[in-house]
Amino acid sequence: MNTILRETGTIKAVRIHSFGGPEALCLEDVAAPEPGPNEVLVRVHAAGVNPFDWKVREGECGPLPLPRTLGCDFSGAVEALGEGVTDFYVGQPVFGHCASGGAFAELIAVPVANLAPKPSAMDDIHAAATPLCGLTAWQALFDLAEIRPGQKILIHGGAGGVGSFAVQLALRQGAWVIATASTRNLYFLRLLGAKQVIDHTTTRFEDVVKGVDMVLDLIGGETQDRSWKVLKLGGRLVSTVSEPSQHKALICGVRARKVQARTSADQLMLLGDLIANGEINVMVEKILPLFHAPEALEMSRCGHVRGKIVLTIDQR
Ligand SMILES: NC(=O)c1ccc[n+]([C@@H]2O[C@H](COP(=O)([O-])OP(=O)(O)OC[C@H]3O[C@@H](n4cnc5c(N)ncnc54)[C@H](OP(=O)(O)O)[C@@H]3O)[C@@H](O)[C@H]2O)c1
Repeated sequence: MNTILRETGTIKAVRIHSFGGPEALCLEDVAAPEPGPNEVLVRVHAAGVNPFDWKVREGECGPLPLPRTLGCDFSGAVEALGEGVTDFYVGQPVFGHCASGGAFAELIAVPVANLAPKPSAMDDIHAAATPLCGLTAWQALFDLAEIRPGQKILIHGGAGGVGSFAVQLALRQGAWVIATASTRNLYFLRLLGAKQVIDHTTTRFEDVVKGVDMVLDLIGGETQDRSWKVLKLGGRLVSTVSEPSQHKALICGVRARKVQARTSADQLMLLGDLIANGEINVMVEKILPLFHAPEALEMSRCGHVRGKIVLTIDQR
């Protein structure tokens, strides 16, 4: 796909005009965004796919204004600076997160607080795969649960986007990590370093795990319901999916919260350094061109991605 920005002032973008299934996605020419004050215009090289993208497409994230360009994670290079921006330079490699969308496009305009310099040792694919999942794992483990060395952590959905970051970050903190996945991903969890792996298709985790300090629930529903009994008194349950019952938390003597990931340039920089130093590996299962966005979102929607899916955007 070639950009036609120079000729017409438009760019290619994957957008929705109404909520729905894969048929709601359109690859179309739209006016190129312009950076406002304290914003940076980024030429997108790669965009990470998250469950959030198909949830937005289906209208699960509320009545957002339409039309909307999907995609919230990106990596690329600074194309232009808005008024007042002094911390970045044109041509600088950057990566970032923008919850309001716009990353499935050739250009995105984002506030400076939403992006960080991309270390040269991290390529665009792995940088684009990092922001939302890395930030969510970081904020759940460190900001909400405040995990400490030696603690026992159970991660439901350890093989997915958030899970693969969480397993590695918790291990790096010195925690004893137990993670669940289906049969095909057990070896992958072992490679990530999990000390105990549980096949959720054959084993009920509560039959083999007890006394954990923290449950990171990336699945919700009955998985969350069955998690209360494995927590020790004073433990923490953090879910990315649904608000845990405060009534049940009180009865079990634990604390429970839903994490709502927020953009943090500082945490993006810390994650970038860990990745560049080889302390954390970013797992990418599939790389597809931008025009395969419908297929990428359907893969994500199936709920069995190993690590991440990333879309690439052709450069001029
Ligand atoms: N609140 C927030 O700010 C926030 C931020 C990020 C993500 N989220 C949400 O958090 C959830 C996880 O996100 P993600 O990016 O990690 O999703 P993902 O990449 O799609 O990962 C899903 C993983 O879950 C595993 N899985 C599916 N069913 C399972 C089960 N019953 N037990 C254990 N594992 C199971 C799958 O592995 P197998 O195929 O091996 O089962 C897959 O690897 C999504 O619902 C997402 O929308 C919320």
